[in-house]
Amino acid sequence: MAKDSRIAEAGLAAIVLAAGLGTRMRSKRAKVLHEIGGTPMVARVVRALETAGAAPIVAVTGYQAREVEAAIRASAARAQVASAIQAEPRGTGDAARAGLGAIAPGYDGDVLIAYGDMPMLTAATLVEFVAAHRTSGAALSFISVVLADGGAYGRVVRDAHGAPLAIVEARDASPAELAVAEINTGIYIAHAGVLRAALAELKPKNAQHEFYLTDIVASARARGLVVQAWPARDAAEFAGVNTREELSSMETLLREQVNRRLMAAGVTFVDPATAYISDHAEIAADVIIGPNVQILGRCRIGAETRIEGTAWLKDVEIGERCHIKLGVRAEDCRIGADSEIGPFANLRAGTDLEGHNRIGNFVETKKAKIGRGTKASHLSYLGDATIGRDTNVGCGVITVNYDGYEKHQTQIGDRCMIGCDTQLVAPIKVGSDVYVASGTTIIREVPDGALVMSHHPQREKSGWTASWRKRHGDSAAATSHASKHSGK
Ligand code: UD1
Ligand code: CA
Repeated sequence: MAKDSRIAEAGLAAIVLAAGLGTRMRSKRAKVLHEIGGTPMVARVVRALETAGAAPIVAVTGYQAREVEAAIRASAARAQVASAIQAEPRGTGDAARAGLGAIAPGYDGDVLIAYGDMPMLTAATLVEFVAAHRTSGAALSFISVVLADGGAYGRVVRDAHGAPLAIVEARDASPAELAVAEINTGIYIAHAGVLRAALAELKPKNAQHEFYLTDIVASARARGLVVQAWPARDAAEFAGVNTREELSSMETLLREQVNRRLMAAGVTFVDPATAYISDHAEIAADVIIGPNVQILGRCRIGAETRIEGTAWLKDVEIGERCHIKLGVRAEDCRIGADSEIGPFANLRAGTDLEGHNRIGNFVETKKAKIGRGTKASHLSYLGDATIGRDTNVGCGVITVNYDGYEKHQTQIGDRCMIGCDTQLVAPIKVGSDVYVASGTTIIREVPDGALVMSHHPQREKSGWTASWRKRHGDSAAATSHASKHSGK
């Protein structure tokens, strides 16, 4: 308890650096807006900080500031995220200064700093790091990892006693420094006062003529302060994304993590390499996921449901024991238990199937509330419709919902047989236990229990085909056809 209240008293503000363009991405979009697992990188970092208990969080933006702020607001809903503008990208140290300026001048707690381009960062690690810093007695701590090849990362240079002396950027490093395996991940914590003093001393004396945040290490050491490099176990969590190639390998890494977690929880994958599942998905045990399946956004899938393959599902809730056949696309909708969907069905936003439903090939639904046991097996459009239970929607049934200006509602009751090729001209209401003859155009309300039809009387003109073909000079076809059917 005492420890908890000390942490609360100490306070934990955070700064996320997200003002750069990210030249190496070769993109017009700010690097931190590029997505991993469907979420902009910067939003993932903010979420990790938020979950770790940091508040306030200041996002330093510059390039595409408005878009970056919007991306953070969209996916880090609870967080009180303030923003600070870095007018020109003069380096990470300059960005951190801008961030610190947005924290109340009297603020007297710790400040955590992270970069917006490390999307795999987790809250659990941050919590551990903060605790390690606070018990160490160091004035400044940062997270380091050991890599076989340090690449473009900053190298951690230690003194004769093994204490960190400086972080040297790869561009500025001597061959001996480049050979150092311990690198800077880019996550720092220090008391606000320590940080203010260190940032004030930065000078752009380096290959890029920028203010490097990394120089706070040397500056703190110069003032006789203790600096700690906290070695993290899993290097992958701290990988920064600078290029499209790194973006793609990060996506693969996250995907593998998600799939492994799901398999451990009892989900079967026919081929995990072609399953693209959001880390927000909740998938129950004994679900089978076939090849080439995308499960995006916030999907929930009930136990024993089978997804055959080639499906695109976003923000969909699927009940237990459903069979999602080949080629289903579904978005923002609910599929009740024991339903059979597809092959080749398109369930658009607002589709709500109560359960035991069958939606077959080339059926499109939109804002359609469909009762238990109701089926639409072939070639239909059901939009802005409410359909009761145990109704059979025949092949080629269409809700005519749009008059060019507005969308209108169709209502159909329970236990109806809607014949093939029926058009329901909305707004329209069909009662329960109604039989609709095939080819009917329904334009008036149909009461319960009725049979409705709008057939044109059938007429025949015998021998018409032969004379038609003859008129088009197709005499051979005309005679052969005529002789075959004349009975001669
Ligand atoms: C940085 C570190 C390096 C570390 C690596 C870890 C510095 C000088 N170097 O290098 O030691 O190993 O991260 O991934 O800090 N940004 C701004 N304003 C700027 C410049 C950058 O807001 O003026 C933001 C960027 O949007 C980005 C983050 O800071 O999100 C990091 O910048 P980046 O250019 O990617 O730094 P690295 O060269 O990767
Ligand atoms: Ca980077």
